[in-house]
Amino acid sequence: SQVAIVLGTRPEIIKCAPLIKACDRRGVDCLLVHTGQHYSEDLDQVFFDQLELPTPDYNLEVGSRSHGEQTGRMLEGIEDVLDEHVPDVVLVQGDTNSTLAGALAAAKSNIDVGHVEAGLRSFDREMPEETNRVVTDHISDYLFPPTEETKGYLERESVSGEIVVAGNTVVDSLYEYRDLATEKSQILSTLGLTEDDFYLLTAHRAENVDDRDSFAQLLDGVSRFAAQTDREVVYPIHPRAQSRLDEFGLTLPEEIRTVEPLDFLDFLRLEAAASLVFTDSGGVQEETCILGTPCVTLRYTTERPETAYVGANCLAGLDPDDVVEAASTMLGKHADWDVPFGDGHAAERILDTLAAGAEPETAEVPK
Ligand code: UD1
Ligand code: UDP
Repeated sequence: SQVAIVLGTRPEIIKCAPLIKACDRRGVDCLLVHTGQHYSEDLDQVFFDQLELPTPDYNLEVGSRSHGEQTGRMLEGIEDVLDEHVPDVVLVQGDTNSTLAGALAAAKSNIDVGHVEAGLRSFDREMPEETNRVVTDHISDYLFPPTEETKGYLERESVSGEIVVAGNTVVDSLYEYRDLATEKSQILSTLGLTEDDFYLLTAHRAENVDDRDSFAQLLDGVSRFAAQTDREVVYPIHPRAQSRLDEFGLTLPEEIRTVEPLDFLDFLRLEAAASLVFTDSGGVQEETCILGTPCVTLRYTTERPETAYVGANCLAGLDPDDVVEAASTMLGKHADWDVPFGDGHAAERILDTLAAGAEPETAEVPK
């Protein structure tokens, strides 16, 4: 039997890595299709190298475009690959345009679709990711929500596929790499940082950085708290945010230092060592919760409410007063919360489900 995995962005590479490796361990034929949504070395190749992943069988080199054009070109390219290989199932992960294109191309080719990290909902349809999540879930044959909460959303929407709570594969990745990050990464000394004496910031969501006022407000709140507490903020900046900063002519407050996007080990090291993390990233909300670092989310909604329920995350929005208040509450918070995203065996559970669901003659997926 053959499993195809479609991916295209930094978080998909990180969260699909455990699936690719689990296929390898079990001798399952895995066809890897990269859409090329992310292509800059530091958003793409660096993760294939560091996580020791095979070169994709296909790279569609779609690149950066408008939503319609980007998704359309992906659909065309993925359909061609699926016509040629006809895998038993196509796995997609998360909520990007690559996720949607992979799921839609497979569904239209009558190939089973499995959605990894299904059921997440921000209930904000203005986010492009929310559209991608909802559509992907409703055309999937297998849905792998990370938690009981997300399973509940899927049941309420009466999706037609089989639902199996698997945990989040990000836990698998972190358990594999967090000790290595502490051992190997030199990023603290490279940047001249002291453990537990700096803040980490990531911000790249279209709704935050594509609007000048929102982006300025976001930077204002974070820098005010940094000034009040006399600590520096390190901001590994996503290219979307960097180009908006340049375009808007925004000057960064002196408390905030941007650095190039970091590789996985360096970023994990900073996440674990920071006193507090400010973010609008989905993956970073999960990872800080797993690593035991308090997080302030610079958004009004989150599709990861479990992080807030366990006390690891505070949803602050963008208003600087709210950001300062949330940060004051979260700073120094004792990380005694439970990790709500599973036990680090999500990838194995997903492949077990696919093996059990295969037709009798193809059911012998080697373990
Ligand atoms: C995409 C996802 C988002 C995810 C993020 C992960 C969608 C709709 N959005 O957002 O959900 O959180 O990836 O990082 O799928 N660029 C580069 N190099 C690259 C890729 C992009 O410089 O390799 C720049 C280009 O200027 C591009 C911009 O970033 O226009 C945005 O890229 P795009 O892939 O459209 O969306 P992301 O913001 O990366
Ligand atoms: N990440 C990284 N280097 C960075 C910033 C993030 O390796 O400089 C990793 C981070 O550990 C997480 C993922 O990228 O696994 C999150 O990606 P991103 O924030 O781009 O996307 P989102 O999760 O919001 O979709």
